[in-house]
Amino acid sequence: MPTPSTPEPASARDATGRYPWPAGVRLARDLGAVIACQDQELCDLGCGTGVVGRAALQAGARRVAFLDGADDALAGLRELLGSEPRASFHLHQWGEVPPGGPYRLILGGDILYREAFFPQLLASIALGLAADGQCLLADPRTRLEEELPGLAQAAGLTWSSVRRSDFTLVSLRPAGAAPAVARD
Ligand SMILES: C[S@@+](CC[C@H](N)C(=O)[O-])C[C@H]1O[C@@H](n2cnc3c(N)ncnc32)[C@H](O)[C@@H]1O
Repeated sequence: MPTPSTPEPASARDATGRYPWPAGVRLARDLGAVIACQDQELCDLGCGTGVVGRAALQAGARRVAFLDGADDALAGLRELLGSEPRASFHLHQWGEVPPGGPYRLILGGDILYREAFFPQLLASIALGLAADGQCLLADPRTRLEEELPGLAQAAGLTWSSVRRSDFTLVSLRPAGAAPAVARD
């Protein structure tokens, strides 16, 4: 049993995947303006209720892999989308290679909220992206942690971000790839 002097290590699991998060909802809302999903094979990383990946399916994605570390979130999604042949569901912890990749597109809504897991999260993105791939993350804040671009670089990724109307859109690409091409 942890005592006040021995804090419990951060668990890879939490209960945040039980409801849609603001930047995930906003990315889903603007997805067509941000990136073309038609015929794409992509991954919704830290999918929770799958708000982002479901928008990608609606936008014509060929295949969407829903990844999350919480099995209850995945169970809810399976129930919702079980008959959708383009959807697959994978238990995945940040730091591990994302199953089903490499992906030309990884989407993530509101997953930059656990500073202790930034290196693992960025490692999974680097491991899951195809050489010409792009990861787009949505965050509600106007300012993100200053260490993030450096951590991305250490993971072999380039980092750029732009403030849209009500969320920040981060683009990550393998270092050495052509510049990001999120729609404006
Ligand atoms: C804030 S919620 C965002 C959910 C969804 N993307 C949205 O926009 O509504 C963060 C999600 O990341 C997942 N998550 C958190 N830490 C994780 C980890 N270390 N490995 C895998 N998934 C994790 C949670 O289970 C949760 O579903």
